Order: sequence, then structure tokens, then C-alpha cells
Amino acid sequence: MSSNSAAGLDITEVGGGTEDIQAKDNKFVHPWENLKTIGKNKRHILTRGEGIYVYDSEGHRYIDGPAGMWCVNVGYGRTEIADAVAKQLNEIPYDSPWSFTNIPAAQLAERLTALTPGDLNHVFFSTAGSLAVDSALRFVMFYNTILGRPEKRHIISRQDAYHGSTYLSASCSGKERDKTYQVYEKGFIHHLPSPNPYRRPEGMSIEAFCDAKVADLENKILELGAKNVAVFIAEPILASGGVIVPPPGYQKKCLEVCRRHDVLYISDEVVTAFGRCGEIFASETVFDIVPDIITTAKGITSGYQPLGATFISDRLIEEAGAAGSPHSVFANGFTNSGHPAACAASLATLDIIERENILEHVRDIAPYFQERWQELRDIPLVGDVRGVGLMACVECEVDPAGEDTLRADYEIGIRIDEHCQEHGLILRPFINQCIVSPPCTITRSQIDEMVQILRDGIVETMEDARRDGRFKG
Ligand SMILES: Cc1ncc(COP(=O)(O)O)c(C=O)c1O
Repeated sequence: MSSNSAAGLDITEVGGGTEDIQAKDNKFVHPWENLKTIGKNKRHILTRGEGIYVYDSEGHRYIDGPAGMWCVNVGYGRTEIADAVAKQLNEIPYDSPWSFTNIPAAQLAERLTALTPGDLNHVFFSTAGSLAVDSALRFVMFYNTILGRPEKRHIISRQDAYHGSTYLSASCSGKERDKTYQVYEKGFIHHLPSPNPYRRPEGMSIEAFCDAKVADLENKILELGAKNVAVFIAEPILASGGVIVPPPGYQKKCLEVCRRHDVLYISDEVVTAFGRCGEIFASETVFDIVPDIITTAKGITSGYQPLGATFISDRLIEEAGAAGSPHSVFANGFTNSGHPAACAASLATLDIIERENILEHVRDIAPYFQERWQELRDIPLVGDVRGVGLMACVECEVDPAGEDTLRADYEIGIRIDEHCQEHGLILRPFINQCIVSPPCTITRSQIDEMVQILRDGIVETMEDARRDGRFKG
């Protein structure tokens, strides 16, 4: 853990000390909380951030490997965004999106739709990625119903996908462990096998694997009957599932299948948009697709305010508008749709991205980032290293039947993260994987620092296991 006590806030002045806040925090049911250990957690309390670094209440400094939760793309300490939010709150903090509008929401709608691919010229605002996805799916259902084909409502998703935490978006997610003890919609949601090249059958080429995964989609549409299938929803990169990078050309071939069968395509860019892949929207420029709907959130405000946005094509809007009888009301929306402070934060984020050429910076530095990351392959425990742009994952080998119990340790990501935190790097551990997606402002020397700490963290985890006989490799 790097120490920089001067940089942190004095928590005793505002909160009664670290332990006091930690005790109070145990009333907060955090996302994915394990209720067996609730009340006993001692989470680090973050009090300040600057650039790619965050500081906790004890003055320790960390590189924020996941940029919060894939979101703080322009980095911490941006008073410009905070000032834009404060200014807006002082002018008008709220307006009902049912009856009124506000200046930042209108400006943002115009500015963002000028950047979308194809004819995705309309935007529906919400407050999270889950709600952007939920709204996209509800729009698709509405569209088909208003067009007089309510049976066209089946949704195709994929294993390893993550689309959110509302009932509908969670039902579309395909991370099996998350489904424990939960009730999901199964009647009209279907999951294809994951397009993860690392898990392809032995001896199969990447090209053949790509064709097989595209065929999975077409076969599922044919099995269900195209007249019953509404939409295919897909992240271009399956981010939370472990930065799974489908084979080259996969997204485009899937879109072609959808077009052949009159099935809509939602590109879930909650993670990949707003700089992470060196573009505002990555669908067309990086993955060669112009989908019917794009969903975004996270980096849209760089995490400074909650905001989700669902971009919908002119074609869908016009067809639904023309078909409606007696009226075409899309009955979906939120008290905080187009919230003025969140939209002001997004405009300020876009200003920073443009003024500082952050997209160019990502395009310039990403090859170096990926190259350095690949060097970790020489560590015996590492099975796969993958990524695109400024997102990457190291996956440890798993061999539950083997001699080394470390290779069957599904907490290994957490163990590596603990070692890395001791050296000043936060990871996003996920089972046997370590994921990072740092702020897009990261420099070469900061990448070097990150990779070195991760190497040390993995090696120390192996050494711990060697000491107690759990690892011989
Ligand atoms: C691809 C994708 N879609 C949707 C979501 C849900 O976003 P939120 O947590 O803002 O609701 C996430 C969150 O990680 C995501 O990665």
C-alpha cells in the first residue's frame, strides 16, 4: 500500500474515524453482499481521488485499476465536472421530464446523437446501465406489439453476458453464479453459449469457432421461429464476464444473421463507450456494426453522476409512431430521466474528452497497455491474458481435478487482489480472473507500475500456496 497521508481527508473531522464509519457502513447492504458476513465487513473508505489514484481514510494511495466500476474514464479530481453539477443544482435542480425539459438534457441529447452511428438519432435518458438496458428491451417489446406482432418477443442473449440488475436485464445476464437463489424470467429469454475463444474446443481454429458461435445464433432463431424472436442483445466485449473478446468479425456476422431474420440488435455499450475503446461509441468504428439500439451509462458522466442513455434508431421511432392507434405512447420512464445535474456532468465530461484528446490518447496507448499485459503470460499460474483498448483480464488456470488445489481455488482473484492492494493497486477480482479498466488518462509509466504490481501480486499468491503445499507449478 503506498502511503500518502497528506493527500487524504482527515476522517476524524467529518466522520469520527475509520472504525466508526466502517461500523455505520455495516447497515448498508452493498451490491452482491454476502449476508453471512454482513455486519463484519471492514471496507476501505475512499475519501479522495486524483488522476488514476484514490486515497483511503488511512492515507493509503491506490491505482484504481477498474476506474471505480469501469466508469471514471476521465479520472478523479475533475473540479470542472463538479462545478458544472453545482452550477446546475443552483440554477434548477430538477424538472419533471414528463412535462418540461432543461437546458443540459436538451444540449446533451443533441450532442450525443450527433456522435452515434447510422440513424440512431434519438436518446432515452435514465439513471443507470440496467435501466438503459431495461428501457431498450421494453422499447423492443412495445415496438413489436404496436406493429401488431406481440408474439415477436423472445430475447436472445449469451452465457457470460452481464446486462444489469433489474428483473429483465438480470434475466438477460448469463453469469451463472449470479443466479443462485434468484428467480429469473426463463419463458422468453434464451442464452447462447459464450463466444469465449479461450474455451473453444481443442484443435478448433479461431475462424471455425467464430462460425460456430454465429451458427448458434442462427440456429436458435430458427428453433424458436424468426416470427417469435424480437432481439439479440450483446456487449461487443463481454466485460463483467471476464473481458471476453469474441473472435474477429463475430459481431458483424451476428448482425447479418439478425438482419436476415428481421431480429433487432441491441449493442450494450455500457462499458465500451465513452473512451474505453478509443471512441465515444465503439459499435461501428471498432466492431463494424450499426445496431438498432445502443445502451450506455458509466463513462457517460465518468462516474460523477448517475446517468444511463438508450439510443434508438429513427426507423424504429418512426415505425412505432406511425403504427400507433389510437396513440403511440411509450409508457416507460423515470422520475430522474434527463436529470439536469447528471446531464451537466455528462456535457462537462465530453468537454474534457474533446479538449484533452482523450480518445486519441487511448488509441495511442492501448497497444502498449495490451503488450505489457501479455507479458504476464510467462507466470506459470496464468492461463489466458486478453483485452481490447483500455480493458484487460488475466485468467488463472483452473484445474479442479489436478494435484494443485490452488488451481481449483475460486477465490484466487480475491487473493491476488489482496496482495495487489498491499502494493497500491486495486483490481476487479472475478472468480479466477483479475480485471482492469483504468482511467483513460493513464500514462505509460503508470501502466508499467500497474503491470509490475500485478506480477508481484500473482507471484506472491503462488508463493503462499507453495508454502502450504497447494501449488507445485
Ligand atoms: C455491459 C453492461 N450493461 C449493463 C450494466 C448495468 O449497469 P448499472 O450497474 O449502471 O446498472 C453493466 C454494469 O456493469 C454492464 O457492464
